[in-house]
Amino acid sequence: MAEKASEAVTTGLQSALVDLVDLALLGKQAHWNIYGPHFRSVHLHLDEVIDEVRLSSDDVAERLVAIGGEPDARASAVAETSQVQGLSAGRLAVDKVIRQFEERLQSSADRIKASLPDIEKRDPLSHDMLVGIATGLEKQAWMFRASTESN
Ligand SMILES: [Fe+2]
Repeated sequence: MAEKASEAVTTGLQSALVDLVDLALLGKQAHWNIYGPHFRSVHLHLDEVIDEVRLSSDDVAERLVAIGGEPDARASAVAETSQVQGLSAGRLAVDKVIRQFEERLQSSADRIKASLPDIEKRDPLSHDMLVGIATGLEKQAWMFRASTESN
């Protein structure tokens, strides 16, 4: 039986898990409902983001189990504890989707970064994994930001 992980580590991983699962769900919601100029490129970009965050959520959940935790990504847990801002139902204009995903990806990366100092000494491996995931989220946020005229 794995040694019981410190609460700071399991809490950090669980928080990242629900945010990543939520990002994947919101990504599909936008992938389906998006409309407007450059539809196809953003539609496809969203699927790339979804693939990445799904892989990341699997890594986070399995790390959590490996250190003696119990990942919870039931729909109810995601709905109650994800800190990712939601999307409105219905059609979503391309320019709005770009801004929304830039913000949601960056905010999710920021929340992971904020959890890192408490995790670093307690579990360097979880820390290292989360650094990689936050770096990926920031990269995707930049890709959305780079496609807007104002940046
Ligand atoms: Fe699709």
